[in-house]
Amino acid sequence: MSRSAHPAGPRHADVLPEGHYTAPPADLNSLDSRVWAQTVERTPEGAVAVGGLDVRRLAEEFGTPAYVMDETDFRARCRAWRDAFGSDADVYYAGKAFLSRAVVRWLHEEGLNLDVCSGGELATALDAGMPAERIALHGNNKSDEEIERAVEAGVGRIVLDSFQEIARVAHTAARLGRRQPVQIRVTVGVEAHTHEFIATAHEDQKFGLALAGGGSSSEAGEGPAAEAVRRVLMLDSLELTGIHSHIGSQIFDMAGFEVSARRVVGLLTRIRDEHGVELPEIDLGGGLGIAYTPEDDPREPHEIAKALGDIVTRECEAAGLAVPRLSVEPGRAIAGPTAFTLYEVGTLKELEGLRTYVSVDGGMSDNIRTALYDAEYSVALVSRASAAEPMLSRVVGKHCESGDIVVRDAFLPADLAPGDLLAVPATGAYCRSMASNYNHALRPPVVAVRDGQARTIVRRETEEDLLRLDVG
Ligand code: LLP
Repeated sequence: MSRSAHPAGPRHADVLPEGHYTAPPADLNSLDSRVWAQTVERTPEGAVAVGGLDVRRLAEEFGTPAYVMDETDFRARCRAWRDAFGSDADVYYAGKAFLSRAVVRWLHEEGLNLDVCSGGELATALDAGMPAERIALHGNNKSDEEIERAVEAGVGRIVLDSFQEIARVAHTAARLGRRQPVQIRVTVGVEAHTHEFIATAHEDQKFGLALAGGGSSSEAGEGPAAEAVRRVLMLDSLELTGIHSHIGSQIFDMAGFEVSARRVVGLLTRIRDEHGVELPEIDLGGGLGIAYTPEDDPREPHEIAKALGDIVTRECEAAGLAVPRLSVEPGRAIAGPTAFTLYEVGTLKELEGLRTYVSVDGGMSDNIRTALYDAEYSVALVSRASAAEPMLSRVVGKHCESGDIVVRDAFLPADLAPGDLLAVPATGAYCRSMASNYNHALRPPVVAVRDGQARTIVRRETEEDLLRLDVG
Protein backbone atom coordinates (compact mmCIF):
# COMPACT_ATOMS: atom_id res chain seq x y z
CA MET A 1 0.00 0.00 0.00
CA SER A 2 1.39 3.35 -0.96
CA ARG A 3 1.42 5.68 1.99
CA SER A 4 0.46 8.63 -0.12
CA ALA A 5 -2.66 6.78 -1.28
CA HIS A 6 -3.87 6.75 2.31
CA PRO A 7 -2.71 9.97 3.89
CA ALA A 8 -2.76 9.47 7.62
CA GLY A 9 -4.33 12.38 9.41
CA PRO A 10 -4.76 12.89 13.14
CA ARG A 11 -6.80 10.13 14.75
CA HIS A 12 -9.37 10.85 17.37
CA ALA A 13 -9.74 8.89 20.53
CA ASP A 14 -13.46 8.26 20.06
CA VAL A 15 -12.89 6.30 16.86
CA LEU A 16 -10.15 4.17 18.35
CA PRO A 17 -11.01 0.89 20.00
CA GLU A 18 -8.43 0.73 22.77
CA GLY A 19 -5.17 2.13 23.96
CA HIS A 20 -3.57 4.58 26.26
CA TYR A 21 -2.92 7.91 24.66
CA THR A 22 -3.72 11.49 25.22
CA ALA A 23 -4.04 14.06 22.48
CA PRO A 24 -1.05 14.26 20.18
CA PRO A 25 1.61 16.62 21.51
CA ALA A 26 1.47 20.15 20.15
CA ASP A 27 4.84 19.63 18.51
CA LEU A 28 5.90 16.13 17.54
CA ASN A 29 9.50 17.31 17.30
CA SER A 30 9.72 18.39 20.93
CA LEU A 31 11.71 16.22 23.33
CA ASP A 32 10.29 16.19 26.83
CA SER A 33 13.16 16.44 29.31
CA ARG A 34 11.28 14.18 31.74
CA VAL A 35 11.86 11.13 29.54
CA TRP A 36 15.04 11.96 27.63
CA ALA A 37 18.58 11.76 28.95
CA GLN A 38 20.20 14.98 30.05
CA THR A 39 22.31 15.80 26.98
CA VAL A 40 19.71 14.85 24.35
CA GLU A 41 18.69 17.76 22.15
CA ARG A 42 17.29 18.46 18.70
CA THR A 43 19.88 20.20 16.58
CA PRO A 44 19.08 23.16 14.32
CA GLU A 45 19.27 20.72 11.40
CA GLY A 46 16.36 18.77 12.88
CA ALA A 47 18.04 15.54 13.88
CA VAL A 48 18.58 14.57 17.51
CA ALA A 49 21.98 14.58 19.19
CA VAL A 50 23.21 13.13 22.46
CA GLY A 51 26.47 14.13 24.10
CA GLY A 52 26.96 16.38 21.10
CA LEU A 53 26.74 13.48 18.61
CA ASP A 54 24.13 13.26 15.88
CA VAL A 55 22.13 10.01 16.12
CA ARG A 56 22.50 9.50 12.36
CA ARG A 57 26.24 9.32 12.85
CA LEU A 58 25.81 6.92 15.77
CA ALA A 59 23.54 4.70 13.66
CA GLU A 60 26.09 4.71 10.87
CA GLU A 61 29.00 3.86 13.12
CA PHE A 62 27.37 1.40 15.53
CA GLY A 63 24.36 0.13 13.58
CA THR A 64 20.80 -0.30 14.80
CA PRO A 65 19.20 -1.34 17.00
CA ALA A 66 21.50 0.05 19.66
CA TYR A 67 21.13 1.23 23.22
CA VAL A 68 22.69 4.68 23.44
CA MET A 69 23.66 5.60 26.98
CA ASP A 70 24.39 9.14 28.11
CA GLU A 71 27.38 8.67 30.41
CA THR A 72 27.21 12.28 31.59
CA ASP A 73 23.64 11.70 32.74
CA PHE A 74 24.46 8.35 34.35
CA ARG A 75 27.27 9.89 36.37
CA ALA A 76 25.15 12.92 37.27
CA ARG A 77 22.41 10.64 38.60
CA CYS A 78 24.94 8.71 40.68
CA ARG A 79 26.17 11.97 42.19
CA ALA A 80 22.62 13.23 42.78
CA TRP A 81 21.80 10.08 44.77
CA ARG A 82 25.08 10.10 46.65
CA ASP A 83 24.81 13.80 47.53
CA ALA A 84 21.14 13.51 48.49
CA PHE A 85 21.84 10.74 50.98
CA GLY A 86 25.09 12.27 52.23
CA SER A 87 27.83 10.70 54.26
CA ASP A 88 25.49 9.07 56.81
CA ALA A 89 24.02 6.75 54.20
CA ASP A 90 25.12 4.45 51.38
CA VAL A 91 23.71 4.16 47.89
CA TYR A 92 23.97 0.69 46.35
CA TYR A 93 23.24 0.75 42.64
CA ALA A 94 21.14 -2.34 41.77
CA GLY A 95 23.18 -4.01 39.03
CA LYS A 96 20.21 -6.00 37.72
CA ALA A 97 18.97 -2.80 36.03
CA PHE A 98 22.04 -2.79 33.76
CA LEU A 99 25.57 -3.86 34.51
CA SER A 100 28.80 -3.79 32.54
CA ARG A 101 32.44 -3.22 33.40
CA ALA A 102 32.21 0.43 32.34
CA VAL A 103 29.19 0.96 34.57
CA VAL A 104 31.02 -0.59 37.51
CA ARG A 105 33.90 1.86 36.97
CA TRP A 106 31.50 4.83 36.78
CA LEU A 107 29.87 3.73 40.04
CA HIS A 108 33.22 3.31 41.72
CA GLU A 109 34.44 6.71 40.54
CA GLU A 110 31.21 8.41 41.62
CA GLY A 111 31.30 6.89 45.10
CA LEU A 112 28.43 4.40 44.87
CA ASN A 113 28.27 0.86 46.17
CA LEU A 114 26.84 -2.05 44.19
CA ASP A 115 24.09 -4.59 44.77
CA VAL A 116 24.57 -7.84 42.83
CA CYS A 117 22.19 -10.78 42.77
CA SER A 118 24.03 -13.50 40.87
CA GLY A 119 27.46 -14.99 40.29
CA GLY A 120 27.58 -13.26 36.91
CA GLU A 121 26.93 -9.82 38.36
CA LEU A 122 29.44 -10.50 41.15
CA ALA A 123 32.07 -11.58 38.60
CA THR A 124 31.49 -8.40 36.56
CA ALA A 125 31.75 -6.21 39.65
CA LEU A 126 34.97 -7.81 40.86
CA ASP A 127 36.51 -7.97 37.41
CA ALA A 128 35.95 -4.24 36.90
CA GLY A 129 37.57 -3.43 40.21
CA MET A 130 34.69 -2.66 42.56
CA PRO A 131 36.15 -3.14 46.06
CA ALA A 132 34.50 -6.22 47.56
CA GLU A 133 33.56 -4.41 50.75
CA ARG A 134 31.34 -2.10 48.67
CA ILE A 135 29.37 -5.01 47.20
CA ALA A 136 26.16 -6.50 48.61
CA LEU A 137 25.01 -9.94 47.48
CA HIS A 138 21.28 -10.59 47.11
CA GLY A 139 19.18 -13.49 45.88
CA ASN A 140 16.50 -15.86 47.12
CA ASN A 141 18.35 -18.97 45.95
CA LYS A 142 22.05 -18.27 46.05
CA SER A 143 24.11 -21.26 45.03
CA ASP A 144 26.89 -22.66 47.20
CA GLU A 145 29.39 -21.41 44.62
CA GLU A 146 27.95 -17.91 44.70
CA ILE A 147 28.05 -17.83 48.50
CA GLU A 148 31.58 -19.16 48.58
CA ARG A 149 32.85 -16.70 45.98
CA ALA A 150 31.21 -13.79 47.81
CA VAL A 151 32.57 -14.75 51.23
CA GLU A 152 36.00 -15.47 49.81
CA ALA A 153 36.09 -12.12 47.99
CA GLY A 154 35.08 -10.41 51.23
CA VAL A 155 31.84 -8.76 50.12
CA GLY A 156 30.65 -6.13 52.53
CA ARG A 157 27.22 -7.64 52.95
CA ILE A 158 25.27 -10.76 52.16
CA VAL A 159 21.52 -10.25 52.44
CA LEU A 160 20.05 -13.43 53.90
CA ASP A 161 16.77 -14.47 52.37
CA SER A 162 15.76 -17.72 54.08
CA PHE A 163 16.44 -20.01 57.02
CA GLN A 164 18.36 -22.45 54.82
CA GLU A 165 20.59 -19.66 53.67
CA ILE A 166 21.45 -18.62 57.20
CA ALA A 167 22.90 -22.09 57.75
CA ARG A 168 24.64 -22.22 54.38
CA VAL A 169 26.33 -18.83 54.65
CA ALA A 170 27.31 -19.49 58.27
CA HIS A 171 28.80 -22.83 57.29
CA THR A 172 30.77 -21.39 54.36
CA ALA A 173 32.07 -18.46 56.40
CA ALA A 174 33.12 -20.79 59.22
CA ARG A 175 34.90 -23.10 56.80
CA LEU A 176 36.77 -20.15 55.28
CA GLY A 177 37.57 -18.76 58.72
CA ARG A 178 35.58 -15.56 58.15
CA ARG A 179 33.01 -13.57 60.05
CA GLN A 180 30.63 -12.49 57.30
CA PRO A 181 28.58 -9.29 57.72
CA VAL A 182 24.95 -10.05 56.87
CA GLN A 183 21.57 -8.37 56.79
CA ILE A 184 18.25 -10.19 57.00
CA ARG A 185 15.71 -9.45 54.27
CA VAL A 186 12.27 -9.07 55.73
CA THR A 187 8.93 -8.77 54.01
CA VAL A 188 7.07 -6.02 55.76
CA GLY A 189 3.59 -6.66 54.40
CA VAL A 190 3.29 -3.90 51.83
CA GLU A 191 3.37 -4.54 48.13
CA ALA A 192 3.89 -1.33 46.28
CA HIS A 193 2.45 -0.55 42.90
CA THR A 194 2.87 2.55 40.86
CA HIS A 195 0.53 4.86 42.73
CA GLU A 196 -0.73 2.67 45.50
CA PHE A 197 0.29 0.03 47.98
CA ILE A 198 -1.71 -2.83 49.32
CA ALA A 199 -1.21 -5.28 52.12
CA THR A 200 -0.13 -8.69 50.87
CA ALA A 201 -0.24 -12.18 52.26
CA HIS A 202 3.31 -12.81 53.35
CA GLU A 203 3.40 -16.45 52.34
CA ASP A 204 2.45 -15.55 48.80
CA GLN A 205 5.85 -14.47 47.49
CA LYS A 206 9.28 -15.99 47.34
CA PHE A 207 11.46 -13.27 48.88
CA GLY A 208 12.51 -12.71 52.43
CA LEU A 209 11.29 -13.57 55.89
CA ALA A 210 7.94 -12.21 57.02
CA LEU A 211 7.71 -9.86 59.97
CA ALA A 212 4.21 -11.00 60.77
CA GLY A 213 3.46 -14.30 62.43
CA GLY A 214 0.03 -15.59 61.68
CA GLY A 215 -0.94 -13.22 58.90
CA SER A 216 -2.55 -10.74 61.28
CA SER A 217 -0.51 -7.66 62.13
CA SER A 218 2.71 -6.91 60.29
CA GLU A 219 4.13 -4.81 63.12
CA ALA A 220 7.38 -6.55 64.07
CA GLY A 221 5.39 -9.52 65.24
CA GLU A 222 6.49 -12.99 66.22
CA GLY A 223 7.15 -14.01 62.64
CA PRO A 224 9.95 -15.80 60.79
CA ALA A 225 12.01 -12.57 60.69
CA ALA A 226 12.32 -12.44 64.49
CA GLU A 227 13.26 -16.13 64.52
CA ALA A 228 15.88 -15.54 61.81
CA VAL A 229 17.42 -12.78 63.93
CA ARG A 230 17.62 -15.15 66.89
CA ARG A 231 19.37 -17.78 64.81
CA VAL A 232 21.86 -15.40 63.16
CA LEU A 233 22.81 -13.86 66.50
CA MET A 234 23.79 -17.32 67.77
CA LEU A 235 26.22 -17.98 64.93
CA ASP A 236 29.83 -16.85 65.41
CA SER A 237 30.63 -16.82 61.71
CA LEU A 238 27.88 -14.28 60.96
CA GLU A 239 27.83 -10.65 62.00
CA LEU A 240 24.29 -9.31 61.88
CA THR A 241 24.60 -5.67 60.84
CA GLY A 242 21.07 -4.80 59.86
CA ILE A 243 17.63 -5.42 58.41
CA HIS A 244 16.75 -5.14 54.74
CA SER A 245 13.41 -4.45 53.07
CA HIS A 246 12.62 -4.00 49.38
CA ILE A 247 8.97 -3.35 48.66
CA GLY A 248 8.73 -3.32 44.87
CA SER A 249 9.68 -1.42 41.76
CA GLN A 250 8.57 1.60 39.68
CA ILE A 251 6.97 3.21 42.75
CA PHE A 252 6.00 6.87 42.85
CA ASP A 253 4.24 7.04 46.17
CA MET A 254 6.47 7.32 49.27
CA ALA A 255 3.76 5.91 51.56
CA GLY A 256 4.88 2.30 51.05
CA PHE A 257 8.44 3.21 52.02
CA GLU A 258 7.19 4.93 55.13
CA VAL A 259 5.29 1.85 56.27
CA SER A 260 8.33 -0.26 55.46
CA ALA A 261 10.68 2.01 57.42
CA ARG A 262 8.32 2.06 60.38
CA ARG A 263 8.04 -1.72 60.48
CA VAL A 264 11.77 -2.28 60.09
CA VAL A 265 12.44 0.13 62.97
CA GLY A 266 9.81 -1.81 64.90
CA LEU A 267 11.88 -4.95 64.42
CA LEU A 268 15.09 -3.16 65.48
CA THR A 269 13.32 -2.08 68.65
CA ARG A 270 12.22 -5.61 69.32
CA ILE A 271 15.75 -6.89 68.76
CA ARG A 272 17.10 -4.34 71.22
CA ASP A 273 14.50 -5.32 73.81
CA GLU A 274 14.90 -9.05 73.33
CA HIS A 275 18.63 -9.38 72.72
CA GLY A 276 20.10 -6.15 74.05
CA VAL A 277 21.63 -5.47 70.61
CA GLU A 278 21.16 -2.30 68.57
CA LEU A 279 21.73 -3.13 64.92
CA PRO A 280 23.66 -0.38 63.12
CA GLU A 281 22.11 -0.59 59.62
CA ILE A 282 18.80 -0.39 57.76
CA ASP A 283 18.45 -0.94 54.02
CA LEU A 284 15.16 0.15 52.44
CA GLY A 285 15.88 -1.34 49.00
CA GLY A 286 15.21 0.18 45.62
CA GLY A 287 12.05 0.71 43.65
CA LEU A 288 11.84 4.41 42.89
CA GLY A 289 9.95 5.08 39.69
CA ILE A 290 11.06 6.97 36.60
CA ALA A 291 9.20 8.75 33.79
CA TYR A 292 8.59 6.49 30.81
CA THR A 293 6.10 8.94 29.39
CA PRO A 294 5.68 12.66 30.18
CA GLU A 295 2.66 11.81 32.36
CA ASP A 296 4.86 10.05 34.93
CA ASP A 297 6.02 12.26 37.76
CA PRO A 298 8.88 10.70 39.70
CA ARG A 299 10.37 12.01 42.94
CA GLU A 300 13.85 13.52 42.94
CA PRO A 301 16.64 11.84 44.94
CA HIS A 302 16.76 14.68 47.49
CA GLU A 303 13.01 14.36 48.16
CA ILE A 304 13.37 10.61 48.58
CA ALA A 305 16.39 10.99 50.86
CA LYS A 306 14.57 13.52 53.01
CA ALA A 307 11.38 11.46 53.26
CA LEU A 308 13.24 8.27 54.18
CA GLY A 309 15.72 9.99 56.49
CA ASP A 310 12.93 11.81 58.34
CA ILE A 311 10.81 8.74 58.92
CA VAL A 312 13.73 6.59 60.10
CA THR A 313 14.94 9.34 62.44
CA ARG A 314 11.46 9.98 63.82
CA GLU A 315 10.72 6.31 64.45
CA CYS A 316 14.11 5.67 66.03
CA GLU A 317 13.84 8.69 68.29
CA ALA A 318 10.38 7.59 69.39
CA ALA A 319 11.77 4.15 70.23
CA GLY A 320 14.89 5.51 71.90
CA LEU A 321 17.18 3.87 69.35
CA ALA A 322 20.34 5.38 67.92
CA VAL A 323 19.61 6.22 64.27
CA PRO A 324 21.12 3.42 62.16
CA ARG A 325 23.08 3.95 58.95
CA LEU A 326 20.63 3.97 56.07
CA SER A 327 21.21 2.43 52.67
CA VAL A 328 19.11 2.30 49.52
CA GLU A 329 19.37 0.35 46.27
CA PRO A 330 18.16 2.33 43.28
CA GLY A 331 18.58 0.60 39.93
CA ARG A 332 16.01 1.93 37.48
CA ALA A 333 16.16 5.48 38.90
CA ILE A 334 19.83 5.72 38.00
CA ALA A 335 20.17 3.73 34.76
CA GLY A 336 16.68 3.99 33.30
CA PRO A 337 16.52 7.58 32.08
CA THR A 338 20.11 7.59 30.79
CA ALA A 339 19.59 5.56 27.61
CA PHE A 340 17.38 5.34 24.56
CA THR A 341 17.10 2.57 22.03
CA LEU A 342 17.84 3.62 18.49
CA TYR A 343 15.91 1.72 15.81
CA GLU A 344 15.56 1.96 12.06
CA VAL A 345 12.06 1.98 10.59
CA GLY A 346 11.29 -0.83 8.15
CA THR A 347 7.82 -1.99 7.13
CA LEU A 348 4.85 0.34 7.64
CA LYS A 349 1.35 -1.08 7.68
CA GLU A 350 -1.52 1.33 7.81
CA LEU A 351 -4.89 0.13 9.02
CA GLU A 352 -7.27 2.80 7.93
CA GLY A 353 -9.20 4.41 10.71
CA LEU A 354 -7.26 2.44 13.26
CA ARG A 355 -3.51 2.92 13.46
CA THR A 356 -0.26 2.45 11.59
CA TYR A 357 2.00 -0.42 12.56
CA VAL A 358 5.59 0.78 12.39
CA SER A 359 8.05 -2.11 12.34
CA VAL A 360 11.55 -1.53 13.64
CA ASP A 361 14.66 -3.68 13.45
CA GLY A 362 14.50 -4.87 17.08
CA GLY A 363 11.58 -5.65 19.34
CA MET A 364 10.74 -7.85 22.28
CA SER A 365 14.27 -9.30 22.28
CA ASP A 366 15.73 -5.91 23.24
CA ASN A 367 12.75 -4.61 25.23
CA ILE A 368 10.52 -7.26 26.77
CA ARG A 369 8.93 -4.84 29.22
CA THR A 370 5.99 -3.83 27.04
CA ALA A 371 5.00 -7.44 26.41
CA LEU A 372 5.77 -8.58 29.95
CA TYR A 373 4.44 -5.76 32.10
CA ASP A 374 2.27 -3.76 29.71
CA ALA A 375 4.85 -1.04 30.18
CA GLU A 376 4.29 2.26 28.45
CA TYR A 377 6.99 4.01 26.49
CA SER A 378 7.20 7.05 24.31
CA VAL A 379 8.99 7.32 20.98
CA ALA A 380 10.24 10.02 18.63
CA LEU A 381 11.46 10.38 15.09
CA VAL A 382 15.09 11.38 15.64
CA SER A 383 16.84 11.39 12.25
CA ARG A 384 14.99 14.52 11.10
CA ALA A 385 12.32 16.95 12.15
CA SER A 386 8.94 16.69 10.49
CA ALA A 387 6.07 19.08 10.02
CA ALA A 388 3.65 16.29 9.02
CA GLU A 389 0.39 15.57 10.83
CA PRO A 390 0.44 13.24 13.82
CA MET A 391 -0.31 9.61 13.00
CA LEU A 392 -1.46 7.20 15.66
CA SER A 393 1.13 4.45 15.58
CA ARG A 394 2.12 1.23 17.23
CA VAL A 395 5.83 0.54 17.17
CA VAL A 396 6.41 -3.18 16.78
CA GLY A 397 9.44 -5.42 16.41
CA LYS A 398 10.46 -8.04 13.90
CA HIS A 399 9.72 -11.13 16.00
CA CYS A 400 7.32 -13.87 15.12
CA GLU A 401 4.44 -12.99 17.38
CA SER A 402 1.83 -10.29 17.47
CA GLY A 403 2.62 -9.41 21.10
CA ASP A 404 5.99 -8.13 19.92
CA ILE A 405 5.17 -4.52 20.73
CA VAL A 406 7.71 -1.89 21.75
CA VAL A 407 5.44 1.16 22.09
CA ARG A 408 1.76 0.38 22.18
CA ASP A 409 0.36 3.82 21.40
CA ALA A 410 2.29 6.78 20.12
CA PHE A 411 1.90 9.64 17.72
CA LEU A 412 4.54 9.80 15.01
CA PRO A 413 4.65 12.09 11.98
CA ALA A 414 2.51 10.84 9.08
CA ASP A 415 5.41 11.16 6.64
CA LEU A 416 7.38 8.49 8.50
CA ALA A 417 9.19 6.30 6.00
CA PRO A 418 11.46 3.25 5.90
CA GLY A 419 15.01 4.24 6.80
CA ASP A 420 13.95 6.87 9.35
CA LEU A 421 15.44 6.49 12.80
CA LEU A 422 13.24 6.22 15.87
CA ALA A 423 14.37 6.40 19.47
CA VAL A 424 12.55 5.01 22.48
CA PRO A 425 13.71 6.83 25.63
CA ALA A 426 14.10 5.53 29.19
CA THR A 427 15.43 2.12 28.16
CA GLY A 428 18.58 2.18 30.30
CA ALA A 429 17.16 -0.18 32.94
CA TYR A 430 15.79 -3.70 32.50
CA CYS A 431 16.09 -3.69 28.71
CA ARG A 432 19.63 -4.82 27.83
CA SER A 433 19.73 -6.73 31.13
CA MET A 434 16.55 -8.63 30.16
CA ALA A 435 17.34 -8.95 26.46
CA SER A 436 17.04 -12.33 24.80
CA ASN A 437 18.08 -14.13 21.63
CA TYR A 438 14.49 -14.93 20.67
CA ASN A 439 14.35 -15.85 16.98
CA HIS A 440 18.15 -15.86 17.20
CA ALA A 441 18.15 -12.10 17.44
CA LEU A 442 21.56 -10.63 18.09
CA ARG A 443 21.47 -8.58 21.25
CA PRO A 444 22.22 -4.91 20.50
CA PRO A 445 25.31 -3.08 21.70
CA VAL A 446 25.38 -0.48 24.43
CA VAL A 447 27.09 2.66 23.19
CA ALA A 448 28.21 5.16 25.79
CA VAL A 449 28.33 8.79 24.72
CA ARG A 450 30.11 11.56 26.56
CA ASP A 451 31.38 14.99 25.48
CA GLY A 452 31.36 14.29 21.78
CA GLN A 453 32.89 10.82 22.11
CA ALA A 454 31.05 7.53 21.60
CA ARG A 455 32.34 4.07 22.44
CA THR A 456 30.91 0.60 22.63
CA ILE A 457 30.76 -0.63 26.22
CA VAL A 458 28.88 -3.84 25.40
CA ARG A 459 29.35 -4.98 21.83
CA ARG A 460 26.67 -6.26 19.52
CA GLU A 461 26.28 -10.01 19.47
CA THR A 462 27.31 -11.77 16.29
CA GLU A 463 26.13 -14.92 14.59
CA GLU A 464 29.47 -16.43 15.63
CA ASP A 465 28.52 -15.75 19.26
CA LEU A 466 25.29 -17.65 18.74
CA LEU A 467 26.96 -20.53 16.95
CA ARG A 468 29.75 -20.76 19.53
CA LEU A 469 27.20 -21.85 22.14
CA ASP A 470 25.60 -24.30 19.75
CA VAL A 471 27.92 -27.25 20.15
CA GLY A 472 25.59 -30.03 19.01
N1 LLP B 1 17.01 -4.12 45.56
C1 LLP B 1 16.42 -5.31 45.43
C2 LLP B 1 16.55 -6.27 46.51
C3 LLP B 1 15.67 -5.62 44.28
O1 LLP B 1 15.08 -6.80 44.18
C4 LLP B 1 15.55 -4.66 43.27
C5 LLP B 1 14.79 -4.94 42.04
C6 LLP B 1 16.21 -3.42 43.42
C7 LLP B 1 16.92 -3.18 44.58
C8 LLP B 1 16.18 -2.34 42.38
O2 LLP B 1 14.91 -1.90 42.09
P1 LLP B 1 14.70 -0.62 41.16
O3 LLP B 1 15.25 0.58 41.90
O4 LLP B 1 15.46 -0.85 39.90
O5 LLP B 1 13.24 -0.56 40.95
N2 LLP B 1 12.34 -6.30 35.66
C9 LLP B 1 11.42 -5.38 36.32
C10 LLP B 1 12.00 -4.85 37.61
C11 LLP B 1 12.37 -5.94 38.58
C12 LLP B 1 13.02 -5.38 39.81
C13 LLP B 1 13.55 -6.48 40.65
N3 LLP B 1 14.22 -6.04 41.82
C14 LLP B 1 11.09 -4.25 35.36
O6 LLP B 1 11.59 -4.25 34.24
O7 LLP B 1 10.32 -3.38 35.69
